[in-house]
Amino acid sequence: MMNCTLRKISEEDVTQLQVISRSTFRETFEDHNTEEDLNKYLDEQLSIKSLLEELKNPNSAFYFAYENERIVGYLKLNWTSAQTELIDEAAFEIERIYILKEFFGTGLGQFLLNNAITIGKAKKPTYIWLGVWEKNTRAIRFYEKNGFKVFSSHLFTLGNDIQTDLLMKLDITN
Ligand SMILES: CC(C)(COP(=O)(O)OP(=O)(O)OC[C@H]1O[C@@H](n2cnc3c(N)ncnc32)[C@H](O)[C@@H]1OP(=O)(O)O)[C@@H](O)C(=O)NCCC(=O)NCCS
Repeated sequence: MMNCTLRKISEEDVTQLQVISRSTFRETFEDHNTEEDLNKYLDEQLSIKSLLEELKNPNSAFYFAYENERIVGYLKLNWTSAQTELIDEAAFEIERIYILKEFFGTGLGQFLLNNAITIGKAKKPTYIWLGVWEKNTRAIRFYEKNGFKVFSSHLFTLGNDIQTDLLMKLDITN
């Protein structure tokens, strides 16, 4: 059994956030995207400047997942005006949930999602939602088995490539 813990992070953790964000993003998308598109995204969206701005937003929260002392994944959560699409002001968004590839299938992803849902429910949202690339079949299956259902889609630009994200939501029943 893994020894996983979760910690809310702040601006002083930005360097480590950039390291885990870049390595997990690359591992997730390198097989299906050009090096040029990946680098453009990493340089523009996962720069220290952009991450610091995101960390300063009072309506977002980032968490690191640790296995013992090592950072092995992270979460980014948004509510109210910080949501990347304001379909419903009262909804709650899981914008990023990423773990290192070597931990796929170990229960770490489930640990992070369970925590994201618990944190989300405490804000009493109408529903919890997220966007996932239509070709990310592993993540889609992971969300489906956790009760998320596709309700819409939107376009997402990775570098210069325009891609379709499925929007999935989990209705809150209690
Ligand atoms: C998304 C993520 C957190 C899920 O964690 P995980 O440990 O991989 O999830 P699990 O192993 O519990 O579940 C994945 C499911 O997809 C299935 N799966 C694996 N590869 C698959 C594929 N190519 N097609 C369809 N299903 C697939 C697995 O069998 C499993 O389903 P099962 O439990 O019914 O057998 C993790 O994969 C991750 O961090 N990925 C990289 C980042 C990412 O894609 N984030 C989502 C961005 S929106």
